[in-house]
Amino acid sequence: MIPERSRVEVMLSAETIQDRVAELGAQISRDYAGRDLTLIGILKGSVPFLSDLMRHITVPVQIDFLEVSSYGGAMESSGIVRLVKDLSHPIHGKDVLIVEDIVDTGLTLTYLIELLTAQDPASTGIASLLDKPSGRTEGADLDVDYVGFTIPNAFVVGYGLDLGGYFRNLPFVGIYTPPEE
Ligand code: IMP
Ligand code: MG
Repeated sequence: MIPERSRVEVMLSAETIQDRVAELGAQISRDYAGRDLTLIGILKGSVPFLSDLMRHITVPVQIDFLEVSSYGGAMESSGIVRLVKDLSHPIHGKDVLIVEDIVDTGLTLTYLIELLTAQDPASTGIASLLDKPSGRTEGADLDVDYVGFTIPNAFVVGYGLDLGGYFRNLPFVGIYTPPEE
């Protein structure tokens, strides 16, 4: 079933997001000056964020992608992370910054940091558009270096975030309310 756009209520407007992404880009440019930065976008949710963020980065930068799957289309995480697409280029000696749409339980990023660290990068960092700290499971003691917005525990869609693959194209982030049974 295709979910209805009318069930999405704006939480962060396109303008609010754009302003914050510009700030993050400037901050990352300062922090990574003189280094060898690779942004690693986590498909598919990071696509709009990565695409906007990279245009606000003024230091030399390369990009690559990883795809993982944990949700399987539902509104709650399965707790299992599966690697669907690996990196195209080695990251040995590079300063890698993972670019993610949202940190919820923290399982995805805990898995990814471990995966990338094993390839001996110079450093690993995390940039996430959204952070839902209330969703963090025990032990997932993650250090998120760059957070766009900290949000309460709601299911959000838009600007990369999906429900069953839909809504990623919305230019804003909104709360989705499912229809009554
Ligand atoms: P975690 O492993 O629980 O931290 O979940 C991270 C992934 O779950 C994100 O990359 C999203 O794909 C998905 N996710 C978590 N919360 C939401 C949400 O509110 N809306 C849509 N996707 C979400
Ligand atoms: Mg995701």
